Amino acid sequence: MTAKMIRWAAAAIGLGIALSTSFAAAEETATEFPLLKPTRQEWSFAGFFGQYDQAQLQRGYHIYKEVCSSCHSMKLVKFRNLADEGGPGFTEEQVKALAAEFTIMDGPNDEGEMFERPRLPSDPFPSPYPNDKAASFSNGGAIPPDLSLIAKARAVHRGFPQFVFDMFWPYQEQGPDYIASLLTGYQDPPPEGVEVPEGTYYNPHFMNGISLRMPPPIDDDLLEYTDGTPQTKEQYAKDVAAFLMWAAEPHLDARKALGLKVMLYLIVFAGILYFAKRQVWRGVPH
Ligand code: HEC
Repeated sequence: MTAKMIRWAAAAIGLGIALSTSFAAAEETATEFPLLKPTRQEWSFAGFFGQYDQAQLQRGYHIYKEVCSSCHSMKLVKFRNLADEGGPGFTEEQVKALAAEFTIMDGPNDEGEMFERPRLPSDPFPSPYPNDKAASFSNGGAIPPDLSLIAKARAVHRGFPQFVFDMFWPYQEQGPDYIASLLTGYQDPPPEGVEVPEGTYYNPHFMNGISLRMPPPIDDDLLEYTDGTPQTKEQYAKDVAAFLMWAAEPHLDARKALGLKVMLYLIVFAGILYFAKRQVWRGVPH
């Protein structure tokens, strides 16, 4: 080995040590969000055979309409979707009535004027603000995100080895677990010594920092449930999270039912192929 090679090797080892210590130092100082992982909930739509619970989706719509829709839009959902198969299961008549509770600007009419009319099932859910500037102005500089796809847009990493197990018993409820934890995770007052920025609310379940600009939207007994379901903050959070999951993945029921049939078909077909192969090659020396 020449002296030059030894010098190179020493330099490479030195660089390696320097890099790994600096990465370790960075890891120690950087705080990872969320401070608390989402609590895993029981969902009717989890697992291989899971399906939505219609009554829960209906309650979830109720909460979205009464609470969340005053700040959040859901532009991708039309009222008629509420009657779609695999959804909350409202009847067409109910959907007409639900849509007509809101108005929309339409036109121009024959005289060239814009006019307001009640919404129809073919209209989307209303947006609370005319534009992002108004939304941000009313919420201290933060724009409440559109909730149409939020249940698919938020997922907290589960880490090793959990994510390996998740592949075998499919875990796709990161979104609703996160939303339910976020809605119930506010802590007031915040823990001692924690400085919370002005106008934000401490929530260790928030993915993007220690606090967010959404005030705690739900509390116990906020809304009346007519079917005897407990009127707790936790139940409201679960119901609205399930509703948002349906909005983001409206065909989950059909997908799971078809997936099961396809797997059964493939298993039977694999068996037939195996016996056909044995039959065809019977007696052929190989
Ligand atoms: C008073 C207005 C207001 C109400 C009511 C409200 N939100 Fe929010 N929401 C906000 C704002 C503002 C943000 C953005 C917060 C931020 O980024 O600091 C937000 C953010 C969110 C987020 C995204 C959090 C993230 O990880 O980025 C979710 C999910 C959410 N809201 C769900 C809901 C649900 C569900 C309801 C109804 C139960 C609701 N919100 C009611 C104002 C509101």
